Amino acid sequence: MNGAINAHQKPRKMIIAIDGPAAAGKGTLAKRIAAHFDFKYLDTGSLYRGVGLKVVQMGGDPNNEDDALAAAQQLEFDDLDGDELRTAQAGENASIVAQMPSVRKEMLGFQRRFAQAAKISKGGCVLDGRDIGTVVCPDAEIKLFVTASAQVRAQRRHDELLGRNEQSNYETVLADLKLRDKRDTERRVAPLVPAQDAHLLDTSKLDIETAFQTAIDIINSH
Ligand code: CDP
Repeated sequence: MNGAINAHQKPRKMIIAIDGPAAAGKGTLAKRIAAHFDFKYLDTGSLYRGVGLKVVQMGGDPNNEDDALAAAQQLEFDDLDGDELRTAQAGENASIVAQMPSVRKEMLGFQRRFAQAAKISKGGCVLDGRDIGTVVCPDAEIKLFVTASAQVRAQRRHDELLGRNEQSNYETVLADLKLRDKRDTERRVAPLVPAQDAHLLDTSKLDIETAFQTAIDIINSH
C-alpha cells in the first residue's frame, strides 16, 4: 500500500505547503503528515493568532497597523502556544492583522528560515496556512490546497469549540467563517488562493483517515 511508507523511508528532501480556508482540516492533516515522515511542522496561523493576541495584551488595537506591527516585532515562541490562541476571538483578530502588509512582511522571514532550516536538519517540513504555496514557499515540492464546503467547515469548528467547553452556536460560527473567508480571499496582500501547481483536496466528504491517505499517496507519487 502506498500510504504504508514509514518515517525511516523518508521521501527526498521536501517542503510540503498546505493551504486552505478556516477549519478545512489543514492543521490535523499537516500534523499527521509531519509525524508520518518525521518532518518539522509549522502552523503559520498561530503566528497571526499570536500577533492578534499580543496586540490586545499590549493594550493596542488590532485594527491599527502600527500597534499590530509592534506586536509582530515582539512576538516570541512562547506566544505561539496555549488554548487562548484557538478561541474564536483570536481567529477573528488574526484575520484582521493578517491583512496588514507590514505584519505579513515581518512574519515572512521567520517562516522561510524555518522551512529552509527544517529541510536541512530534518529532511523536510510541513507548513500550513493561507499563502504558503503562493508566497512563503513558492518552490515547495508539494502543494496541497485543502477545502470543504462552508457548512461542513462550520460544523467542524462548532464541534471543536463545544469539545473545548466553549460556548458555540452553529449559525454564528458559519457567519464568522464566511466573513473570515471573505477577508482572507479578498485582501490585497497574499490572498487565499490555490497555487497554480497545487493539488486540490476537498475534504467535505472525507474523514481524516481518508484525507490523510489521499495526501500521502499524492506525496509518494511525486
Ligand atoms: O484554524 P483556522 O483555519 O481557523 O485559522 P488559522 O490557520 O489559525 O489562521 C487564522 C487566520 O490567520 C486566518 O484567518 C488568516 O487570516 C490568517 N493567516 C494568514 O493570513 N496566512 C497564513 N499563512 C496563516 C493564517
